[in-house]
Amino acid sequence: MMGSLLPASVTVVHLKGDDHEAELLPAEADALPAVSPRRRREFALARTCARRALATLGVPAVPILTGPEREPLWPPGVVGSITHCSGYCAAALALKGEVASLGIDAELHDELPRGVLGMVTRGQEREWLLDLPDTGVCWDRLLFSAKESIYKAWFPLSRSWLGFADVLMSIDPRTASFRGRLLGPGPVVGNRSVTAMEGRYLVDEHWILTAVTVLHEP
Ligand SMILES: CC(C)(COP(=O)(O)OP(=O)(O)OC[C@H]1O[C@@H](n2cnc3c(N)ncnc32)[C@H](O)[C@@H]1OP(=O)(O)O)[C@@H](O)C(=O)NCCC(=O)NCCS
Repeated sequence: MMGSLLPASVTVVHLKGDDHEAELLPAEADALPAVSPRRRREFALARTCARRALATLGVPAVPILTGPEREPLWPPGVVGSITHCSGYCAAALALKGEVASLGIDAELHDELPRGVLGMVTRGQEREWLLDLPDTGVCWDRLLFSAKESIYKAWFPLSRSWLGFADVLMSIDPRTASFRGRLLGPGPVVGNRSVTAMEGRYLVDEHWILTAVTVLHEP
């Protein structure tokens, strides 16, 4: 699933369904504020996935705490991203030498609630959505998910906010890919300024999955 959207240098671990053991390390449990049991469980499931991915990368298991903007704090030399939604959770991790940044997102495959599309899109994007083929894909939700993946890949590089109107998305159904043009200054990776972020998507009857990879060299 998610793994097929990312390069081979990225390790993805996902859990489907609700009957998995979820493990929180003591430091993670201590750092988690008072939250609902559901939130505690998704937090723990994500960390269970992430630790399995770390093991595959040969990195020892460590607590994965959260930074001031809710970002996951990875061990030195590691980049990664987490997503969870009802019945699905995944972590995608890579060594920093291989990949500059990653963003993944999973959404239930359903239309966005009424009124949300206008808040997360630009007018031009709404026009383009109307041109996409009527194949049963909830393109509005897919576009939203793609923007969330872009934000998750953007944040570790720039450590700043990126609004939904700050990116102009285009979706290519022929290649199941998307591109988000950054309308403001982009982060610097190596000696280039990133002007767009690209990703791939996968849709089935239950979920929409999107993934963005920022490579060191385009
Ligand atoms: C942060 C955000 C993207 C999370 O997406 P979501 O669909 O609500 O939830 P998901 O389950 O897919 O992802 C949650 C995970 O995102 C990660 N995350 C949260 N903030 C993050 C940040 N600033 N940078 C990178 N990753 C972040 C966390 O790992 C979190 O899981 P955890 O709290 O268990 O560790 C979303 O809540 C948000 O704030 N969006 C507004 C910004 C945005 O998307 N802009 C669009 C730019 S085009």
